Amino acid sequence: MRCFLPATFYLLPTMKTSHENPNAQANAMDQYYRFQSKIYDMTRWSFLFGRDEVIKAIPIERNAKVRILEIGCGTGYNTKLLAQTFPNAEIRAYEVSEDMVSLSRKKLLPFGSRVEIVHKPYGVEPEAQLESYDAILFSYSLTMINPQWEDLIRQAHKDLKPGGYIAVVDFHNSRHEWFKKHMGNNHVRMDGHLVPLLKELFVPIVEQVQKAYLATWEYITFVGKKSD
Ligand SMILES: C[S@@+](CC[C@H](N)C(=O)[O-])C[C@H]1O[C@@H](n2cnc3c(N)ncnc32)[C@H](O)[C@@H]1O
Repeated sequence: MRCFLPATFYLLPTMKTSHENPNAQANAMDQYYRFQSKIYDMTRWSFLFGRDEVIKAIPIERNAKVRILEIGCGTGYNTKLLAQTFPNAEIRAYEVSEDMVSLSRKKLLPFGSRVEIVHKPYGVEPEAQLESYDAILFSYSLTMINPQWEDLIRQAHKDLKPGGYIAVVDFHNSRHEWFKKHMGNNHVRMDGHLVPLLKELFVPIVEQVQKAYLATWEYITFVGKKSD
């Protein structure tokens, strides 16, 4: 179990939460990450747990020629790990914050045209082709996409090939109302709301709820398969 909230955690400022319109939600993220992007990689290792593990848990053969999509790639931390783990994969990642897009494009330069970062909210414009991805990763993005998270999970289901995998790592819940409020003020909804829909749409392969910092919060790791 993780102990002691690091000082960096309190660098999360206080802001507003739910945005009905996808463009308003994207604009709120763009603003929020203007400062946060600068300290992101320095601080997030201390509370965004399970990111490396969820990528390792995707049951795709390492050298396979596959197409992988990531939603909300941030600084490209996971995108880089995806590109290294699946060296023949073509990877596309959506991101709405301009500062995050710059950082991730810089980080992913060594992978050339194999990795593409798209500066748009996911799901607003359709992909060129439905059912075209072998895996879709959401790492700590769904709990920030409010209230559109449900539409995005359903969209991912449509964009996955039959037999494809969704991989999700994210905040799950907290027994402390003060903590949920703090996270709400930072755009994060923490209500255990993701798992029921994930289980309704996908066959679970990995489903774990783990505790962080003396159970201040729980986070989920979910890998699910779209039916063939
Ligand atoms: C907590 S960060 C996680 C970043 C990265 N996935 C990671 O695990 O480090 C959430 C990211 O999702 C992005 N995001 C939020 N809403 C989005 C949307 N509708 N479409 C694409 N990206 C979005 C944010 O700008 C932010 O970079």
